[in-house]
Amino acid sequence: MKVLVIGQGGREHVLSWKLAQSPKVEKIFCAPGNAGTARDAENVDISDSDIPGLLSFAQDNQIDLTVVGPEAPLVAGISDAFRDAGLNVFGPSKAAAQLEGSKQFSKEIMRAAKVPTAEYRAFTHVEDALEYLESREQEAVVIKADGLAAGKGVFVCSSKEEAIDAVKTIMVDHKFEEAGATVVIEDCLEGIETSILAIVDGKTIIPLETSQDHKRAYDGDQGPNTGGMGAYSPAPYVNDDMMDQIIEDILVPTVHTMKRQNCDFSGVLYAGLMLTSQGPKVLEFNVRFGDPEAQPVLMRLKSDLFDILMAAAEGRLGDVPDLEWDERAATCVVMAAEGYPGRYSKGDAITGIDAADELENVKVFHAGTKLLDGKVLSNGGRVLGVTAMGDNISAAKLQAYKAVKNIRWSGAWCRKDISDKARD
Ligand code: AMP
Ligand code: GLY
Repeated sequence: MKVLVIGQGGREHVLSWKLAQSPKVEKIFCAPGNAGTARDAENVDISDSDIPGLLSFAQDNQIDLTVVGPEAPLVAGISDAFRDAGLNVFGPSKAAAQLEGSKQFSKEIMRAAKVPTAEYRAFTHVEDALEYLESREQEAVVIKADGLAAGKGVFVCSSKEEAIDAVKTIMVDHKFEEAGATVVIEDCLEGIETSILAIVDGKTIIPLETSQDHKRAYDGDQGPNTGGMGAYSPAPYVNDDMMDQIIEDILVPTVHTMKRQNCDFSGVLYAGLMLTSQGPKVLEFNVRFGDPEAQPVLMRLKSDLFDILMAAAEGRLGDVPDLEWDERAATCVVMAAEGYPGRYSKGDAITGIDAADELENVKVFHAGTKLLDGKVLSNGGRVLGVTAMGDNISAAKLQAYKAVKNIRWSGAWCRKDISDKARD
């Protein structure tokens, strides 16, 4: 079978690497890919936003399954274009991808499905939003731009002034352009965050192992939000009872409500949860694998990923046997470029990746890299996801940081406390 993976981050590298382990897969292409996928797959120089170009490539090369990594092409309707052309694709339709593409849509689905989430109001006029803020008793509030904003459109505010600034940033300064035409204002939840991902084919739901991301830039969860500075799996505070509750109260009603509204969800349903004193509540839905959560979770998957994703694409997930997991833990430490998540430099030569990769139970997933004359250069803010397995979270952490020590480029940095929260 021939597989096309779309995207160029750490998530697409781990997807390509894992899919390549399937005995059924003879060839993997990654478009546009990075220096890591150039090794584990064959890169194709087509942007992930060029839907007609990707479709022609898939048709010309008789691709059996296309796996879409990032949200933007899904929200733009890539799955519909492939399905309409009779091709197998793993990823939700444009309509179903609104679960991530519009915070208001996702809140409406949660309300209809009676899924626990923060109370909210949505506004399209800045005056109405500001009036509502004035009338609120609770100062702590979360302000969200409705549309896709690369993880930057969410402001967790502890005072009214901060909240007003956030609304103005979105609705007056138009920092997120069209994505900020509507704002969602919701109550601030407290608790531990966790990511629950499930593979869905419209009706059947297969939850994956648990994980936790580290969204803030610096140690101790300080600094600005990022795309994710590291992740580990499993998240030990999600026990079997809690997982059952999450499936019953969140995943099942969401998938059923989507189906009832003729908006069948197929692909990865990613629930970002806050484990509050009143139980798990949804912070957001995403419609694709988390990055970097995919790296530790898929490293622990022993089942054939191709079988699972192909079954989801063909609507026969019900036939897939129970997934098999490595009981060991995995930790992924993101190495970032100087300046990230602000302006950062690109084009720095990276050394030591091979030495890190040679360590036992280590795999270095590339995120923002490119190959130039045989050299690996930095090419993004999050550059590498150094991932290791160990008998427990501490051992996995130790091994990941041992690998990190081998890798160098000018200005490289990482958080030093990835996975510590598992042991608090
Ligand atoms: P989102 O893109 O919706 O996941 O938001 C990004 C981050 O903002 C989340 O990972 C949380 O840390 C935080 N966040 C979002 N919504 C809330 C909320 N209602 N209460 C507290 N924190 C939130
Ligand atoms: N790691 C957070 C995300 O993928 O959205």
